Amino acid sequence: MTEQASSMVARVFRFAPETAGMGHFEDFQVESTEPLSVMALLAKVHEIDPTFACRTSTCFKGICGSCLVRVNGKDVFGCMTLVLPGETVVVEPHSKFKRIRDVVVDFSQPLAVLERGGEQ
Ligand code: FES
Repeated sequence: MTEQASSMVARVFRFAPETAGMGHFEDFQVESTEPLSVMALLAKVHEIDPTFACRTSTCFKGICGSCLVRVNGKDVFGCMTLVLPGETVVVEPHSKFKRIRDVVVDFSQPLAVLERGGEQ
């Protein structure tokens, strides 16, 4: 009989604009025997360390786009991306938006505008 993994590791990007650094990664072990969406995983990281910034007021249906993050090097919807027990997942800010804090980005400019070079 194989032992089932009971936790996963979130390796999250930490960035605070007032510290003027490039940011760094920090690991959080999250207990779960069930798959979690990246958004649910980030919410648990926030429970462990309330100074970790992430968006949690979201649709969880792939509609609003407020969960956009970069996971293991790919820009994805965090609510639609699952992490399995036993996995380590790297979560960074979405690559197309300006970082605000940790994995939170500035959605004030639409993605289409940013892909054209930034200015409207
Ligand atoms: S939470 Fe709305 S698209 Fe993911």
